[in-house]
Amino acid sequence: MNKKIESILNRQIIREGYSSHLYLAMASWAENEGYKGIASWLYAQAEEERLHMLKFIKYINERGGKAIIPEIEKPPVRYAGVLKMFEEVLKHEQFITGSINEIVQTCMEEKDFNTYQWVQWFVNEQLEEEASVRTLLDSLRLAGDQHLYLFDRDIMSMRQKEKSADTAAE
Ligand code: FEO
Repeated sequence: MNKKIESILNRQIIREGYSSHLYLAMASWAENEGYKGIASWLYAQAEEERLHMLKFIKYINERGGKAIIPEIEKPPVRYAGVLKMFEEVLKHEQFITGSINEIVQTCMEEKDFNTYQWVQWFVNEQLEEEASVRTLLDSLRLAGDQHLYLFDRDIMSMRQKEKSADTAAE
């Protein structure tokens, strides 16, 4: 496997791993604050990020490279409220989108068209993830501090619907 591609994909393992850890830390904080719906959304998100990390590990190894399982940085323990926390989620996803775009660019420079095609799944995934966090941020701003419990209840039922859709698709 091309060394530059192997190295940038290994960098993405670290970033997806950190995303998973970050959302776990946020989930745990939200759970302790009594926001069950928000916590359940974040736990599910953390699991998705772990699966993203796994996709990179497997792809590198399948293509004859060596996936490196990294040490993962400790995310913050406390968050300055639900709105601020979701703003952090959006900022983080935008950072990940930038990181995926750098992979796309490296694939073009190195003429690795297989990886270029493989990584398109992540390009689309990032579009969806950013859009869904923006929607959540819009409803959070509408709900305001007084109606946070409504937001928490809505996000919980949204998560349950997604879960039953996933089960139906299995
Ligand atoms: Fe896997 Fe949300 O980045």
